Amino acid sequence: MSQLLFVNASQVVTCAGPARARRGIEMTDAGVRFGVAIAVEGDRIAAVAHPSELESTFAGAEVIDCGGRVVTPGLVDSHTHAIFGRARYEEQEMRASGVGYLEIARRGGGIHASVADLRSRSEGELFDLALPRILRLASYGSTTIEIKSGYGLSVEDELKSLRVIARLQRAAPLRLVPTWLGAHEIPLEFRESEARRSEYVSLLVHDLLPIVARERLASFADVFCEPGVFTIDETRAILDASRSAGLGLKLHADELEPHGGAELAVELGAVSADHLGAVSRTGIVALAGGATVATLLPGTMLFLGRRAQAPAREMIEAGAAVALATDFNPGTSPTFNFPLILTLGVSQLRMNVAEAIVAATVNGAAALGLAAGVGRIESGCSADLALWDAEDIREIPYWYGDRRCIGTWMGGRACHAC
Ligand code: NIG
Ligand code: FE
Repeated sequence: MSQLLFVNASQVVTCAGPARARRGIEMTDAGVRFGVAIAVEGDRIAAVAHPSELESTFAGAEVIDCGGRVVTPGLVDSHTHAIFGRARYEEQEMRASGVGYLEIARRGGGIHASVADLRSRSEGELFDLALPRILRLASYGSTTIEIKSGYGLSVEDELKSLRVIARLQRAAPLRLVPTWLGAHEIPLEFRESEARRSEYVSLLVHDLLPIVARERLASFADVFCEPGVFTIDETRAILDASRSAGLGLKLHADELEPHGGAELAVELGAVSADHLGAVSRTGIVALAGGATVATLLPGTMLFLGRRAQAPAREMIEAGAAVALATDFNPGTSPTFNFPLILTLGVSQLRMNVAEAIVAATVNGAAALGLAAGVGRIESGCSADLALWDAEDIREIPYWYGDRRCIGTWMGGRACHAC
């Protein structure tokens, strides 16, 4: 079995501890260790210990000199919408002139514009657009990336999107987690009446979901649960059916208005409730008392020009488990830069650095049901590592906007080097 030995790191940020999300005060411990080496055997971490303890067992290992820099777990970006066609830069100025996100959608822009565009493209074309985007995301430190469908909104186009993700899984040296977001929006052709609207929900549950489940095209189902998009009752119906079909559950919840989405996510046992920019106090209490991870996406609020950010401090102080992710998508968060999201976590959400790193590693993994073996540098975990041009963990969010990741390994295989 191949062996690697990572030596001479200034700090190894292990995020070691239980195989579950860190909650509340637990998030302040990122398990930073000094003077240790990391031994990798095959695709797993074999040991994290003083180099002298590893020398004999790993005498034949390939040595990787970290050059006095920081090593963290490979980042886990647990929320992206990376399967899309063209960029939507025209909407940025519209928003700046006062036209709101939901108003742009009502005028046929927003998600609808991406739907029309994706429908016109072939699977091969979408793959060719997505692969460099995924590699670009990885170049900023991610080794695990969740990818949603959601710009197809028809049986054929949602399946096409999910098949692109399956092809990416085979082509990219990364862990990619597919999520079915057929309930991203009510497509224009189903908006003429309430009856047509419920026909779309029925199409999702009866026509599309069985194929997604049978062909194992997704690990999770997600719904954009928001006033003006999917109601609480519709969300519940789609997610109940998805759970029965064997999918895990995620929710876009309380992004712009408080709507009971967080409470529903906890009630349904979803792995995560995402966005939460407008979560209510009741929602926070529910998240603190349940197993659902609160995934916050501060880049989205920044890009939409909204002053309010999700109340991360209140959530952590209430005892919730918080994750951070990019929400990479063409409408509300066209960034590849996960470390910039950590900067926002610290400067806008007032998280401390350890909380932000935990949120982007072990808690991101928990938001994908992967906390048993991903997001920690600990014996037995997948050897997913990121090496940073930084001597101290606090430099990662400090050099904001910069790309400081200089190498990543996923399952012991080098996947990105700058
Ligand atoms: O997570 N909130 C809904 N979906 C995406 C935005 C999609 C788009 O505007 O294209 C999000 O922000
Ligand atoms: Fe999203």
